Amino acid sequence: MTVRKVTAIAGDGIGPEVMESTRRVLEALKVPLELEYQDAGAEVANKYGTNLPNTTVESVMRNGVGLKGPTATGIGGGMQSANVGLRKRLDLFASLRPVKSVPGVKTRYEGVDLIVVRENTEDLYAGIEHIVVPGVVESLKIITEKASTRICKFAFEHAVAQKRKKVSAVHKANIMKLSDGLFLDCFRKVAREFPNIQAEEVIVDNLCMQLVKNPEKYDVLVMENLYGDIVSDLCAGLVGGLGLVPGANIGTGCAVFEAVHGTAPDIAGKGLANPTALLMSTVMMLDWLQHQDDARRLERAIGKVHLEGTARTGDLGGKATTADFTKAVIDAL
Ligand code: NAI
Repeated sequence: MTVRKVTAIAGDGIGPEVMESTRRVLEALKVPLELEYQDAGAEVANKYGTNLPNTTVESVMRNGVGLKGPTATGIGGGMQSANVGLRKRLDLFASLRPVKSVPGVKTRYEGVDLIVVRENTEDLYAGIEHIVVPGVVESLKIITEKASTRICKFAFEHAVAQKRKKVSAVHKANIMKLSDGLFLDCFRKVAREFPNIQAEEVIVDNLCMQLVKNPEKYDVLVMENLYGDIVSDLCAGLVGGLGLVPGANIGTGCAVFEAVHGTAPDIAGKGLANPTALLMSTVMMLDWLQHQDDARRLERAIGKVHLEGTARTGDLGGKATTADFTKAVIDAL
């Protein structure tokens, strides 16, 4: 059997801890995958003079697939985020974040099962900012017909593939009439090509209110970059927090799978991180690599550990360490 190489970027903070958990689980799963470790993030920036070395980007291009832990980004200055850099350089235009209630993890909501599709390459994340005069800063929101059409098409195609019924476009076109108006026009055009999928439009502030009242009424949500960043974390909170929710960044040539959480500086290095998010991202990666049987086995094992509640990490109110949780998943496999 040929062994497929996957670029593994452990990242900063709790990244190496959740990546090690994932490595051990993949080993127990006996999938024909080999992790090719590469550097990125704040901790290696001094060594390379950049938080995203070329060798790392080239490795993902070569392997076509990456698995990534979180990387730290300075606030209000410093280098561009390694994440934003990776998404731009590999044109990983679609961020995919499935958010599903986890049986055994008690939250305020039940039956949440939605997918956030976020445009990854433009919007305010184009990072085009300048000082107009001292005390006045301009930050440009870039929205193009090409990227908006591409992400809406991706959302509808994903809805069809996942047997979903509805796609909701999230926007603020009542205020940003040109930029969000263009996004909405593209959504409407694409929606006409998918008559079997219900198309709905919802203003982003209303969506946030609806999500905390009745999250179960949403199916697939598609939106620009900034709204997607905020809404996907809100959605993670509906099902138990950032430690649980997986993510994928998908382009035409390659894909990078990563947890949605950050480096968790408050618990980093203590062995307390919940590895579920990166493990569930690994489930998504296995599906993408056509290892569906292994994906289901791993998904079931993680689900069993949560349902039985025998190895619950601190973020979910338990006392288990990352190693305890990892062992429980391996035992369940
Ligand atoms: P964060 O996600 O690191 O932490 C928020 C809270 O969630 C903390 O209390 C943390 O302990 C908890 N948490 C997160 N993941 C957890 C896990 N797996 N297990 C248990 N608890 C977990 O967000 P924050 O503090 O806003 O960001 C910290 C750093 O991470 C920043 O430098 C930020 O730029 C970076 N970041 C990186 C991301 C990425 O690489 N994809 C995504 C988000 C933030």
